[in-house]
Amino acid sequence: MSDYQAMQAKLVAEIDAAADLDAVEALRVAALGKAGSVSALLKTLGGMTPDERQTQGPQIHALREAVTNALAARKAALEGAALEAKLAAERLDMTLPADAAPKGSVHPVSQVMDEIAEIFADMGFAVATGPEIEDDWRNFTALNIPETHPARAMHDTFYFPDKDAEGRAMLLRTHTSPVQVRTMMSQEPPIRIIAPGRVYRSDSDATHTPMFHQVEGLVIDRDIHMGHLKWTLETFLKAFFERDDIVLRLRPSYFPFTEPSAEVDVGYRQEKGRRIVGGHGDDDGHAWMELLGSGMVNRRVLANCGLDPDAWQGFAFGIGIDRLAMLKYGMDDLRAFFDGDLRWLSHYGFGALNVPTLSGGISA
Ligand code: DAH
Repeated sequence: MSDYQAMQAKLVAEIDAAADLDAVEALRVAALGKAGSVSALLKTLGGMTPDERQTQGPQIHALREAVTNALAARKAALEGAALEAKLAAERLDMTLPADAAPKGSVHPVSQVMDEIAEIFADMGFAVATGPEIEDDWRNFTALNIPETHPARAMHDTFYFPDKDAEGRAMLLRTHTSPVQVRTMMSQEPPIRIIAPGRVYRSDSDATHTPMFHQVEGLVIDRDIHMGHLKWTLETFLKAFFERDDIVLRLRPSYFPFTEPSAEVDVGYRQEKGRRIVGGHGDDDGHAWMELLGSGMVNRRVLANCGLDPDAWQGFAFGIGIDRLAMLKYGMDDLRAFFDGDLRWLSHYGFGALNVPTLSGGISA
C-alpha cells in the first residue's frame, strides 16, 4: 500500500467515525483547509519533475477526491439522522379533537352582526359598507341636517383638524346613515340594504362608549309605505329574539332624514334582574322599551342623492347593535364590550364554527 493509500484509509476511517457535524467540519479543515494535510500534498506537485508529477499527481488527486466524498457522505448521514430524530420528537396526534385547539371566541358584537345579516339576507337585503372617516356633507348635510341644525350639536362629533380636497369638514361618522347616501348615489333603485358598522360620539358612561355599533336599514322602491317598515322590523325582531310574541309600538318622533318619523318600542318584562323582550308593553308586569329610530325617507334626502321623490319612496331605520347584544345575551355594562378582558370574552364569546343560520338556529 502506498503512503497515499495509507493516508486515505486513515482519513476516511476518521471521517466515517465522526460523531457529529462539528467533528466532520474539524476533519475537513485538518485535511482540506489552507494548512490541511491534503492541501499540503497538493502544494508539493509544483516542485516535482514532470515524471514524478505524472505518477504521483493522480494519486494525490484521488486522495483528495476520496476525502471530499467521505466528508459529504458523513455530513449527509448525520443531517439525515438529526432530521429523523426531530421528526420523531415532534410527532403530532392528528386524531386529537379540535376542541383542544388554542382558545379564541367570536365577540358578541360580531356574532350579533352576523345574526342580523343572516336574517335580513333572507328578506333580500344586501350588506353595504362605508368609511368610518366621513365628510360632513354625507354625515349631515345630505341627510337634511344643515349646518345650523341643532341635531349637529346633539351628535357630539369628533372632527378632524383638516378639510378634504373639496373643502368639506372631515369627521368620524356619528351614525351609519351616511351609508344610505352613498348607496343611493351609487346604485339604481330598487334598493334593499343594511349597513352595519362602527360609529363615534364623544360620550362615555355605563351605556355609552365613544365608539359603538349601529346597523342602518334602507329600502327604496315604488309605493313603499310605513306598513312595509313595520312588517320588516317585526319580522326581523321575531327572528332575532327567536320568539313569536314580539309586539311593537310605533311612536311619532322626529329625525331630519325621515318624514314621518317613528321611534319603535318593544314590549318587555323584567325577570330576575333581566329584561325579557316579548309581550304587549301595556299588559300586566310589562313595559315598553325604545329600540330604534325609523321613518319614511325624507323627500329632500332622496333629492339630495339624485333620486326623483315623486317616482321613488322608501323607509329607513337605525338600530344600536351593542344594545341588541346586551338585551339578547344579558350583559349589563357596555364598557366591558371593549375592555378586551379574556374572562369576559370567553364567557360571552361564541365558537368560531357556530355560524348563525336560519335553518341551524340564529343564536347557535
Ligand atoms: N341615525 C340615527 C341616529 O344615529 C338613527 C336613525 C333614525 C337612523 C331614524 C335612521 C332613521 O335611518 O330612519 O340616531
